[in-house]
Amino acid sequence: MKLKITSASDTKTKLGQVIFIVGSQWGDEGKGKLVDALSEHYDFIGRASGGANAGHTVCVGRGGEAERYIFHLLPSGILHENKIAIIGNGAVIHLPTLLDEVRALEEKGLDALGRLRISDRAHLIFDYHKDIDEIQERRKGEQKIGTTKQGIGPAYSDKISRRGIRMVDLLDQHRFAEKFRKNAELAQKEFGIQINIESEINFYKDVIELLEPIILNTTELLNKAYQDGKSILIEGVQGTHLDIDMGTYPYVTSSNTTSGGACTGLGISPNKINSIIGIAKAYTTRVGGGPFPTELANIEGDMLREQGGEYGATTGRPRRCGWFDAVLVKNAITINGINSINLTKLDVLRGFKSIKIATHYTLNGQDYDFVPADLDELESLKASYIEMPGWDEDISQIRDFEKLPTNAKNYILKVEEVLGVPINFIGVGVHRNETIYR
Ligand code: GDP
Ligand code: IMO
Ligand code: MG
Repeated sequence: MKLKITSASDTKTKLGQVIFIVGSQWGDEGKGKLVDALSEHYDFIGRASGGANAGHTVCVGRGGEAERYIFHLLPSGILHENKIAIIGNGAVIHLPTLLDEVRALEEKGLDALGRLRISDRAHLIFDYHKDIDEIQERRKGEQKIGTTKQGIGPAYSDKISRRGIRMVDLLDQHRFAEKFRKNAELAQKEFGIQINIESEINFYKDVIELLEPIILNTTELLNKAYQDGKSILIEGVQGTHLDIDMGTYPYVTSSNTTSGGACTGLGISPNKINSIIGIAKAYTTRVGGGPFPTELANIEGDMLREQGGEYGATTGRPRRCGWFDAVLVKNAITINGINSINLTKLDVLRGFKSIKIATHYTLNGQDYDFVPADLDELESLKASYIEMPGWDEDISQIRDFEKLPTNAKNYILKVEEVLGVPINFIGVGVHRNETIYR
């Protein structure tokens, strides 16, 4: 537990030129807040996967001046001047949504397009992908995933089926129109939906005039920058247990959200990443369907939801809440190679008489310290807890670990001991500076 970090700028000195910030639970851990806080000290901020299923919240300023931004496609470092934000080849992009985000920032006087570069290899999401997402969810009935309906699964299906349309295709209008027509006609036939094909093609003709200068080979850009000594922060989306391979399949998203995906989604080799920061809420949440061993379907769960404002940043859906699950986070540490942790939302635990940490699961008298692949097994497991006394104090103004209430300190130390990785960042509020560095 030697690693100590004293400030946002110290992070770069201690953690290195290239870092990856990854969600260690089921998403919404508070990635956006740390990405924003650290971006001031990094030159490039890149997103490697996912689409507008992500919702990353950044709060800047205080009191009446406070501004809250929710980023779906734009990297959360975009607020900082002189930084380059990259949407990598592993992402799936719905351009109307991206343009809405860009315009919202322009209205606040921020030139988002000037700071943005988009990989020519990134895939496009069209409106019909969203329609298909909705239809597929409906067809699944009780077994629905609870997707964000942003067309993520259908767009990645096209990518994997090798019929996806990429940003580079937009650069040749004729080729784009041909590919779009073919895919749209297929979608109409397969799903019985109506697509206004020619008007969509025209829309993208206009869009490309605006975006052409920023669609490029971002892998080359990033690797050249790396050689020149520039620093790179990779912003994770979703969370480890929503990863298509490592998550609670099929209740997952359709991309690799873990550190392998950070490399393939930007074209950065694994040996360039110096550190991986895992973000974990001081408790656990999940939005959408799927197993959740420490879920609290009771008044304590409601208390977590209300105190934590646990409503989806993308869909507004109430998030399911439960105690901290160390089995999950340890799994994330192993899979990603996490060497530093940001425990977020510690302030939300205020007022609980006692707080629990799940250290392992049990089933038929047998202990499990891993997440089984079999969903029925995972649904039947019982979480085993250790219980810690809570605290009543408001901790949001505290910036020095030693000044935290003793029970809050003991909670952190216990989580740290169970995880075996230093907790260098502790979130105590929503704002950019409401973090304890240690
Ligand atoms: P992300 O998807 O991982 O970026 O997380 P979201 O933005 O979806 O959800 C995290 C929520 O928690 C947002 O509303 C944040 O403003 C908020 N948040 C982040 N860190 C903290 C913290 O330390 N304390 C509190 N109270 N809220 C936090
Ligand atoms: P951020 O980046 C939390 C969940 C959905 C659903 C499943 C599949 O803000 O942490 P999808 O639309 O991807 O096909 O949905 O994944 N999900 C998220 N949950 N945070 C996210 O992103 C999520 N992105 C997708 O709720 O259960
Ligand atoms: Mg989110």
